[in-house]
Amino acid sequence: MSTDRLPPESGRFPGTRLRRARRWEWSRRLVAQARLSPSDLIWPVFICEGRDRTEPVPSMPGVVRYSVDHLAEAVAEAYELGIPAVALFPATPPEKKTPDGKEALNPDNLVCRAVRELKRQVPQMGVICDVALDPYTSHGQDGLVRDGYVVNDETLEVLGRQAVVQAQAGCDCIAPSDMMDGRIGAIRRALDEAGLEHVLLLSYAAKYASAFYGPFRDAVGSKAALGSGDKRTYQMDPANGDEALREVALDVAEGADWVMVKPGMPYLDIVYRVKQRFGLPTFVYQVSGEYASLVAAAEQGWLDRRRVVLESLLAFRRAGADGILTYFAVEAARYLQQGE
Ligand code: PBG
Repeated sequence: MSTDRLPPESGRFPGTRLRRARRWEWSRRLVAQARLSPSDLIWPVFICEGRDRTEPVPSMPGVVRYSVDHLAEAVAEAYELGIPAVALFPATPPEKKTPDGKEALNPDNLVCRAVRELKRQVPQMGVICDVALDPYTSHGQDGLVRDGYVVNDETLEVLGRQAVVQAQAGCDCIAPSDMMDGRIGAIRRALDEAGLEHVLLLSYAAKYASAFYGPFRDAVGSKAALGSGDKRTYQMDPANGDEALREVALDVAEGADWVMVKPGMPYLDIVYRVKQRFGLPTFVYQVSGEYASLVAAAEQGWLDRRRVVLESLLAFRRAGADGILTYFAVEAARYLQQGE
């Protein structure tokens, strides 16, 4: 036999042809790295006062606010589809909003009633509650305002109490979205002192001052309250990447179990860096403006809805996200059940 055969060329065309493995559905499936499953999804749900209501959110077509009596049914369906957790967001009636947001501390407020109802009717579903004052303040800011500035340390005390109230109502996980300095430590201490040491903390660690939150603020009614105000004195500057790693490091040191990056698609570099650096359970929030953009383009017939939904979610997984908060959760879980 001839011994003059050269070793196969490695890594060079024409010996190497990456298209070989892309040719067939079976071979693409076999080598696919990132996977998406309903178990990776958290469904953010809006709730409203009243009975027998499902109020559409105009800037988020397909998204509704559920009154508490309708919530469990929708959440049970999500659970059946394999979604492990929901994140609840209350639309507080304007008459209950005050400068100090004290409705946040009412154990019978909308979100607490919703948590109790869910835990009664769908006890297996993970329930995540946001901590921040914006659903409750007449100025729409996430904290207390003194002389036009959102004050940090005074706000921490209230956030700790808000977390305890929600955890006592039965939520499994507290997700602080306010971006005050030191809030993770303050909330962890408040929870532990109240005997709630088993309650998880999912920190919105790297949360940017983003224009992509617009439709959410319609949904919870904080846009009108906020008016021309913005959140740039506490949410992160979209120009910064390294600072996200500092935010995460601080939150981990203060006791965050899990961390989140928000928004999603414009911040995939941050998701990647956070996962690489810390290796912690890392979540990403595909926010309201991302949802609205994709839905609007799909409604025009400019994008294939099913494909962009699944691709956007898969991209988060590839970047390193363990879990994704998305308004597409139920829809995506249905697609995944049907098989791509
Ligand atoms: C409130 C909060 C916001 C979102 C989640 N929690 C809005 C904000 O910070 O103004 C945004 C979610 C979304 O846009 O889908 N602290």
